[in-house]
Amino acid sequence: MSIDRLRAHYGFTRMPFGKDLAPGMLHAHDAHAQAVARIQWCISEQAIGVISGECGAGKTVAARAAIAGLDASRHTVLYLGTPGVGLRGIYGLIVTELGGTPRFHHAALIPQAQELLAAEASERGKQVVLIIDEAHLLDAESLEGVRCLSNMGMDQTAPFCLLLLGQPTLRHRLRRGAFTALDQRIAVRYSITGLDAKETHSYVQHHLALAGRSDTLFSDDALTLIHEVSRGLPRLINNLAVASLIAAFTAKKAIIDESAARAAVAEISAE
Ligand SMILES: Nc1ncnc2c1ncn2[C@@H]1O[C@H](COP(=O)(O)OP(=O)(O)OP(=O)(O)O)[C@@H](O)[C@H]1O
Ligand SMILES: [Mg+2]
Repeated sequence: MSIDRLRAHYGFTRMPFGKDLAPGMLHAHDAHAQAVARIQWCISEQAIGVISGECGAGKTVAARAAIAGLDASRHTVLYLGTPGVGLRGIYGLIVTELGGTPRFHHAALIPQAQELLAAEASERGKQVVLIIDEAHLLDAESLEGVRCLSNMGMDQTAPFCLLLLGQPTLRHRLRRGAFTALDQRIAVRYSITGLDAKETHSYVQHHLALAGRSDTLFSDDALTLIHEVSRGLPRLINNLAVASLIAAFTAKKAIIDESAARAAVAEISAE
């Protein structure tokens, strides 16, 4: 099976359901729009926000969309994609991202990170947006580090926006006693849920239209099945849609029907 032949067969100008969508090309379903609006609010109010959601729900995409519209001369965005382990992981990354060389001892590293963060605002007139992705993976020490940052940052003097993105366990961890101080400072909590059936249909159509097919390519039955199995989670919809396309192509079909979608479901659940 060649992807080029599949593309030609269905008349795609590019492969649909790719991960590399530009912010302006995203699908604006409700949960996505809600998350983006809240992230933007946190940025403008320099507040702490927690965006949670299952794997593949669209957390990182929403954050990317929100920061895409920022004026780079007024904002410094620090994106920690895979938070390192321990206090050193977080503070070391902040220092490195702000152009410093992390000091060796914790006692020196913490003020170093705090000073560099404060300097962005006081010396460069820039608002810092600190995004910690995969924050459910933070260990207790790292969360404690985040709490220290929040204490320092949320006074009137050196404010910045802090966004934690992570799977639903993140919210539960923050609720636990040790982190109440941080928990209480969270101004916005939003959980990105899956798309509803109608949104899943329009999501698939949207990706297909971006690839040059605005007419009907997936049957309603196929879309209904993809919606049920994916529970409306975008990454799963993408995977099922691509597998359905391949199944239909291999069977030389012009339309992605329910049996192609069933083959895709069987293939993906067998993994
Ligand atoms: N609004 C959207 N428009 C188009 N595609 C989207 C949208 N939201 C999510 N996607 C698709 O779903 C995929 C998964 O989204 P994303 O990486 O943001 O999930 P996540 O919640 O960060 O998952 P993880 O917990 O695994 O990090 C993206 O790569 C993208 O292809
Ligand atoms: Mg992510």
